[in-house]
Amino acid sequence: MSEFIFAANQSEVPENGMKLVEVDEQLVLILNVNNEFFCINDVCTHDGGTLCDGKLNGHSIACPRHGATFDVRTGAATKMPATQPTGVHDVKIEGDQILVRLKED
Ligand code: FES
Repeated sequence: MSEFIFAANQSEVPENGMKLVEVDEQLVLILNVNNEFFCINDVCTHDGGTLCDGKLNGHSIACPRHGATFDVRTGAATKMPATQPTGVHDVKIEGDQILVRLKED
């Protein structure tokens, strides 16, 4: 089972914004929704687009390529053309630090 690994400081991830980080050689997105933090793969399951330039609206992130959306809490695809979820990872806060435990998928 993997460990929690430092991903970013809270101050680096703007409220209702996101930051692309590398954790254990994997690119993931840290998202801040009203100061609650989430972590998802930077991968749209429609055609492999990156989500880091997408628009975050509440708990929903939209892929900039064809507009699929995902729920950042669960990774669920919530709008076509994506139908499969993207990966989500566990997040733990310690002081100002955001730690992530990668889930294998
Ligand atoms: S690659 Fe994301 S919607 Fe097509």
